[in-house]
Amino acid sequence: MEGKKFRIYFVLMMLFATSVLEVGGIGVNWGTQSTHPLPPSTVVKMLKDNGIQKVKLFDADPNILDALKKSGIQVMVGIPNDLLYTMANSRQAAEKWVAKNVSAHVSSGGVDIRYIAVGNEPFLSTYNGTFEATTLPALVNIQNALIKAGLGSSIKVTVPSNADVYQSSSGNPSDGDFRTDIHDLMVQIVKFLSQNNAPFTVNIYPFISLYEDPNFPVDYAFFNGFSDPLNDNGKIYDNVFDANYDTLVWALNKNGFGNMPIIVGEIGWPTDGDRNGNLQLAQRFNQGFMTRFIAGKGTPLRPGPMDAYLFSLVDEDNKSIQPGNFERHWGLFYYDGRPKYQLTIGSRTNGLVGATGVAHLPKKWCILKPSANLNSDQVAPSVSYACQNADCTSLGYGTSCGGLDIRGNISYAFNSYYQVNDQVDGACKFPGLSTVTDRDPSTQDCTFQIMIQTDSARKIGSLRIVLFAFLVVAFL
Ligand SMILES: *[C@@H]1O[C@H](CO)[C@@H](O)[C@H](O)[C@H]1NC(C)=O
Ligand SMILES: *[C@@H]1O[C@H](CO)[C@@H](O)[C@H](O)[C@H]1NC(C)=O
Ligand SMILES: *[C@@H]1O[C@H](CO)[C@@H](O)[C@H](O)[C@H]1NC(C)=O
Ligand SMILES: *[C@@H]1O[C@H](CO)[C@@H](O)[C@H](O)[C@H]1NC(C)=O
Repeated sequence: MEGKKFRIYFVLMMLFATSVLEVGGIGVNWGTQSTHPLPPSTVVKMLKDNGIQKVKLFDADPNILDALKKSGIQVMVGIPNDLLYTMANSRQAAEKWVAKNVSAHVSSGGVDIRYIAVGNEPFLSTYNGTFEATTLPALVNIQNALIKAGLGSSIKVTVPSNADVYQSSSGNPSDGDFRTDIHDLMVQIVKFLSQNNAPFTVNIYPFISLYEDPNFPVDYAFFNGFSDPLNDNGKIYDNVFDANYDTLVWALNKNGFGNMPIIVGEIGWPTDGDRNGNLQLAQRFNQGFMTRFIAGKGTPLRPGPMDAYLFSLVDEDNKSIQPGNFERHWGLFYYDGRPKYQLTIGSRTNGLVGATGVAHLPKKWCILKPSANLNSDQVAPSVSYACQNADCTSLGYGTSCGGLDIRGNISYAFNSYYQVNDQVDGACKFPGLSTVTDRDPSTQDCTFQIMIQTDSARKIGSLRIVLFAFLVVAFL
């Protein structure tokens, strides 16, 4: 009897625990546009060690989905914009996509897929309407394919949108509505989402407000209060995130969908590549957001708990820098899985837990030779080649390496190229200019990185060790 009572109590506890986890819990975006991505199993361990229960992916990489199998982590899988045309024009292609990239992973007992993100910010103004004709038909075809696969009730579709799909003529949230050029399309999409009990997903970036407008009031980008709050018919806004989110709530409301659930698909702050991208401001923003999130505090119009995914987990050194040099620095963790700053994102209060078992390449750097002639006509093309094929986004005004002198930033460029190319000798052969050193050229603010070992580099390494062991055995 005693045992049975205990068992019932235990089951109740477990039920309670799961239902609590279901409601709360921050998600993260796991992007993979890196020259040396961390192994998926390492990332999944990192997610678990940090108590992160939800991830958002930008595609459907089978290695990543395998690593997420039986992890207990909820997954949003993405369909990249360049597949929208195919998904829109062929029901069969949509069915194949669902079979291969969803059903296969769900049925093998494994991956807890909850959402399909159809496209990624497809209506961004800078795309000039490229995906306007295909997004809704792709959404419809994927939804139908999910139903046909028997997954219609467990998996929801959504279209992660940039906050530029809505606007407010006066700046007041209550004047919010969908952008004029795509108004009818947005209403059709929202109607379809609503019919299928699916959420609206929006990416909101206060950092971009500050980046694009030098006169933007800095404190209004954060969550610590603002001296000149916005009063919108009695609703008080002291931060731009709330005002932006509620502009969407008004837009939905105005078009008859006031109760549609909203997911914040991306929210975060970069740590380099811009004068406002640094550790202090990123910590201030993300902790400000997380403190409210953990407390279950929403916006003036939706005051309850929120659903959100931080952007992003790890820095990606091969992202396009067309939007700005900050693009490669959104991670809570550096490229090698080291946490960047103190952050409480859940019940753990002693900071983020870094990746374990990550091996770096040897402590070697490629730098400008002390004797090199700066007037050599090889300097400019060498630096430009290195920066185009590696990552110089930590150079420039207000960035972590912005304080280097001219020799310092040439060295930085050379080293980045050398590390991205796994420290092969040929990657430190800038004509008459470069040399390899084992003395760390880093300064207090500026880190000259050492790349991590990737699977292929490690395989070569372990082959060498096997060969060596074989020779030792043969010798004995
Ligand atoms: C980096 O991005 C470029 C352009 O998107 C791509 O061609 C290249 O293969 C990528 N490199 C790595 C190592 O992922
Ligand atoms: C599954 O997803 C991957 C990654 O996005 C994509 O390359 C592939 O074409 C998809 N498979 C099918 C059958 O559509
Ligand atoms: C959008 O249009 C602008 C101006 O015409 C052009 O510079 C840009 O390359 C276009 N972008 C795309 C993605 O087509
Ligand atoms: C390198 O340093 C020089 C001198 O400080 C500066 O003018 C230049 O913009 C820097 N280059 C880069 C790529 O940041």
